[in-house]
Amino acid sequence: AEKNPEKTAIIWLSEDNKERKITYAELKDEVARFAMGLRENGVKKGDVVAIYMSNIPEAFIAVYACYRIGAIYNIIFSGFSANALLERMEDTKPKIVITEDQSVRRGKYINLKNTLDSVRSKVKSINRVIVVKRTGTPDIKMLDNDIYFDDFLKQASGLAEPLPIEANEPGFVIYTSGTTSKPKGIIHSGIGFMVGSYHYVKYSVNLKENDIYWCTADVGWLTFPIYELVGALAHNGTVIAYEGALDYPSIDHFYGIIEKYKVTKLFTAPTLLRMLARYGREKIKNYDLSSLKLISLVGEPLDVKTWHWVYKNIGNENIEINNTYGQTETGGAWTSSIVGITGARPGSCGLPLPGHSYVILDNRGNPVKAGTRGTLVLTQPFPMLARDVWNNHERYINNYFSVFNGYYCTYDEAMEDEYNHIWVLGRTDDVINVAGHRLSTMEMENSIMSIPEISDAAVIGIDDEIKGLIPAAFITLNNRTVDYNEIKNRIKNVINDSIGKFAIPGKIYIISEMPKTRSGKIMRRLLREILSKGDISGDITGLENPESIEKIKNELKNSN
Ligand code: PRX
Repeated sequence: AEKNPEKTAIIWLSEDNKERKITYAELKDEVARFAMGLRENGVKKGDVVAIYMSNIPEAFIAVYACYRIGAIYNIIFSGFSANALLERMEDTKPKIVITEDQSVRRGKYINLKNTLDSVRSKVKSINRVIVVKRTGTPDIKMLDNDIYFDDFLKQASGLAEPLPIEANEPGFVIYTSGTTSKPKGIIHSGIGFMVGSYHYVKYSVNLKENDIYWCTADVGWLTFPIYELVGALAHNGTVIAYEGALDYPSIDHFYGIIEKYKVTKLFTAPTLLRMLARYGREKIKNYDLSSLKLISLVGEPLDVKTWHWVYKNIGNENIEINNTYGQTETGGAWTSSIVGITGARPGSCGLPLPGHSYVILDNRGNPVKAGTRGTLVLTQPFPMLARDVWNNHERYINNYFSVFNGYYCTYDEAMEDEYNHIWVLGRTDDVINVAGHRLSTMEMENSIMSIPEISDAAVIGIDDEIKGLIPAAFITLNNRTVDYNEIKNRIKNVINDSIGKFAIPGKIYIISEMPKTRSGKIMRRLLREILSKGDISGDITGLENPESIEKIKNELKNSN
């Protein structure tokens, strides 16, 4: 691509409607200056810098600065509690922590600096804390050696030159959201990750010079570094980065951004599309969304009903919807459409991208035929596959490479159709075995979602004395005035017709919202716990809507 330092790299939008445009030249300058500051504060290649920040430009600058000098960054999602933060820092032992006074989300101000201060004395490795003045609140205290981000930049003596590093050397650590066990610090390489990100953005987004591209993920989850920070800027793109929640103060905010900036390509999660469908067609009327040519997605199964709704109502039947599949461990989404070349089949995750090969295996490790389900494994390495688990090489080998002798095990259940498209059906641990029948939760959810009045569905297995396990379905409704008994009957009918009598949910719960992570995943584990124990255990600060838990508990009580 032609080099134009004055091109806008990032258009940052705050939740309270501020805008900051950063050109490639400005970005390079600040990154190199910040990198020099890190170096002058003793950060060397291989040292860890923790980044506990929300979606603000300083977080992006910190990430790039680490790359520039070969420091390993550990990105820690800003929604995490003091305990979750401590657990991660105890593992990575950062020399420097970068945070902000307060993060802003849904109109709420969260004192990140205070959260950090409540645990930092337990992490002896920390030499210095750098604080971004996001709101300028007087409610934080700068301790002895703490420094504001702007002062840190001013104190740096100049610009750091980039340090050449070998492509496989570690670039960063990101923890996979632990469901049952301790979170794993997934290590990705630095340069390998960049090569991979470039590759995935090329195929799954087809990013061009004139695109205005928006990845709605948060810097604390891997989707954002891959598809925006690293991948999109490697393509010389112009990207939008948004600080807040997409439907705050209302969904108009989201549509307004697309119209105002003439966004051409969007990368998001299926949950957003379901949310748009739930808000309905009425909301779209006042906006011109005709600039939008592509929506790529990752993170969860995309149900067929939502696919069609978006195609028609958002895309005016003139849009590509590209459902991709990947994991924190694989870095990018390695199954996808090649935009503009291989078409989509609504609900499938497309084909493996160049450079990837896989098989689907049965429990004994034999390949299954097309149309049969099994566990998805990758048979060859690629630049973006996780290099290790931080401080625990054994766990890396045992967890990922020992289940199927040397292959990388995804722990996802999948099926290939007659067009070689891959359908990811859910985690192998979310497969329910009912009276000898293996049921995939995704397949059941997909059927339930075909009912127009239903906006979200989650199926889990609950213990049953006779059958061992029976499916229980949780649903949310677009319109709460429908007749509950009628809806329940329709769910039973649709499961009966599409899968079979044995799969009819034993229990159906209508709730007002699903517990979801910021990255848009329904936390089925929490639903399972509420149902079996009446309460939940463990840290839920990764949730986008922690208040949903109390609501669901009450709704379940009242439904009995
Ligand atoms: O179960 C799969 C599901 O999400 C898991 C990976 O989550 P995470 O590590 O947070 O992903 C970060 C993405 C860079 C997978 O093991 N998943 C992801 N995409 C899809 C999916 N399930 C079905 N269809 C998808 N498109």
